[in-house]
Amino acid sequence: MPSEIIPFLKWAGGKRWLIKRYNHLFPKIFNTYYEPFLGSGAIYFYLNPTKAVLSDINEDLINTYKSIKSDWGKVYSILCKHHIKHDEKYYYLLRSAKCKNKFDSAARFIYLNRTCWNALYRVNKDGLFNVPIGSKDNVIFDHDNFLEISKQLKKATIYCKDFETIINKSVSSDFIFVDPPYITDTNKNGFIKYNDLLFNWDDQLRLYNCLVNAKKRGVHILFTNTFHKSIRKLYENEFYIVPVKRQGILASKSENRKEIKELIIRSYNDGYQRS
Ligand SMILES: C[S@@+](CC[C@H](N)C(=O)[O-])C[C@H]1O[C@@H](n2cnc3c(N)ncnc32)[C@H](O)[C@@H]1O
Repeated sequence: MPSEIIPFLKWAGGKRWLIKRYNHLFPKIFNTYYEPFLGSGAIYFYLNPTKAVLSDINEDLINTYKSIKSDWGKVYSILCKHHIKHDEKYYYLLRSAKCKNKFDSAARFIYLNRTCWNALYRVNKDGLFNVPIGSKDNVIFDHDNFLEISKQLKKATIYCKDFETIINKSVSSDFIFVDPPYITDTNKNGFIKYNDLLFNWDDQLRLYNCLVNAKKRGVHILFTNTFHKSIRKLYENEFYIVPVKRQGILASKSENRKEIKELIIRSYNDGYQRS
């Protein structure tokens, strides 16, 4: 097996932890791989499936994948120029500049992701990226391998669409990895603070119905979300639920990195043993 491709983006909710400890929960055999909430695509790059359908609602993100797929060299050469010129003034200049074409936009997207504060993606009401500069200076990494990434993406069909359209394309024996924006826990009164702007409770219900229908068609599904009773209640009758733990990575001091509980929810159960 060729060496694992490290995702070229850092993304909120990135799933590399899932690979390290829970990769035995993925199905061993499937037909087409679907990832409707792609983000940095950690699981896609790890599994390296022979056929894939990838999608995300974020247009800039999807333009970046499509541009690397069609001509990674163009994106990389522009990124190298950003690497040489990078400093605070250049960051803000590029952040507000108009891009000439899709390759410029893709290189800028990767540059901003690698140098902005906490690899956050946030836009203002006009859709313009508005995250301030962060503390990381590396625009190019030793592990960058855009050639291999491009080769892998050539095996995928890439869309920029809402999850429902994508999930509804799946058929028997396909596998869908589902990683939507998480619900963000409860406030002091015990009410759920849903991530209203990004993904509200109606979206969670819409997703659930879509997944139940896909399961009925014989699709294998692995879904991740917050360890929260509303999600457990929603899925417990139709799906198998595995509670898992992982180390938080947001706090800067290691003693503050709390253990985080999450849920892995699957349409299949192949004898998982809790360790
Ligand atoms: C938790 S992230 C996925 C992280 C990814 N698994 C990784 O390893 O980086 C959720 C993604 O869902 C996307 N998203 C939000 N609402 C969506 C929708 N209605 N349809 C499709 N994608 C959506 C966001 O743009 C974001 O990239």
